[in-house]
Amino acid sequence: HSEDSQNVLEAHQWLTKLYHHLLRNSKDGKTAYQYLIDRGFTEDTIKKYQLGYSPNSKDFVVTFLEKKGYHPQTMVKAGLLSVNDQGEYADRFRGRVIFPLRNHLGKTVAFAGRALGNQEPKYLNSPETELFHKGRLLYNFDQARSSIRKQKTVILFEGFGDVISADQAGVHNGVATMGTSLSSSQANLLKRYVDKVIICYDGDQPGIEAAVKAAKTMKAVGCQTFVARIPDGLDPDDFIQKNGGDRFQKEVLDTSDTYVSFVMSYLRRDYNLQLEGDRIAYIENVLQEVALLERAVEREHYINELANEFDMSVETLKEEVQRIRGQKV
Ligand code: GTP
Ligand code: MN
Ligand code: MN
Ligand code: MN
Ligand code: MN
Repeated sequence: HSEDSQNVLEAHQWLTKLYHHLLRNSKDGKTAYQYLIDRGFTEDTIKKYQLGYSPNSKDFVVTFLEKKGYHPQTMVKAGLLSVNDQGEYADRFRGRVIFPLRNHLGKTVAFAGRALGNQEPKYLNSPETELFHKGRLLYNFDQARSSIRKQKTVILFEGFGDVISADQAGVHNGVATMGTSLSSSQANLLKRYVDKVIICYDGDQPGIEAAVKAAKTMKAVGCQTFVARIPDGLDPDDFIQKNGGDRFQKEVLDTSDTYVSFVMSYLRRDYNLQLEGDRIAYIENVLQEVALLERAVEREHYINELANEFDMSVETLKEEVQRIRGQKV
């Protein structure tokens, strides 16, 4: 690693402290602090996640970093400062609530800044750097790791707020991607720690679509994959703030679907099962998924379920699954 990347890492640790301090102690930070309290985050949570605020000033952070001896050009490359045509530097995250993004060692390697109101973009993330690869980092993995191990399960969320709310409500084994779809490198990392994952994405349409993809990715690395469903298009954070952690555990996590059940109910919406053609297409699609299952017991379970529901012979369905499996190898 170059000297620059050491400096960049250090600068991120300084800024984590500074932003957190400003959230709690500056006049400007009061609004941001109140925003977090109004969202339902406690003082302890704000501390644990080192949430912060970047003041709406062009030079405050620039001056701070200069005084610490960091070159503004290096800080631009690090994604901490921006520079305009006149060569003036400014804090990239100014006026935003700060979520430090830590690597697996607990070091801040990037930031996400959330707008205080409805400004776009809602979240502004650090760009890709030598230290930060969106497709590799899992938010909160450092703090969730021990509980992931203990519970032999990881819960995968869509957003930072979901991870934080769940943790505050007693569910400590949650991580999130960076607003991008789950990569196979993230899936492989999780597979090294657990055999079981619960995907708990937002209950809206984009969340459901993303859950299908993430479920396939986790399944592909050989994890037992479950998918939770959040009612009324809420996200986990909203659900928890509205209904509390106990109901989240009992009504959402404990009743999550197995991968195939989830895919079945997802596919079902696209077909009118009263129509013969649709029914056959649906069954064929489900069998494609069933054929991918490693364990014969699991395959048999869904074959029986389908045979029952559609009044078909188990043998026919089994044959079809064998045929599909034969094509794969
Ligand atoms: P809150 O409104 O703060 O509760 O955010 P959320 O996490 O519920 O946001 P949403 O469900 O809309 O998006 C999920 C995740 O996608 C966020 O946590 C971000 O990581 C990412 N994301 C959302 N909006 C943006 C955006 O405008 N820009 C970028 N880069 N990422 C975004
Ligand atoms: Mn606890
Ligand atoms: Mn969403
Ligand atoms: Mn959301
Ligand atoms: Mn949310």
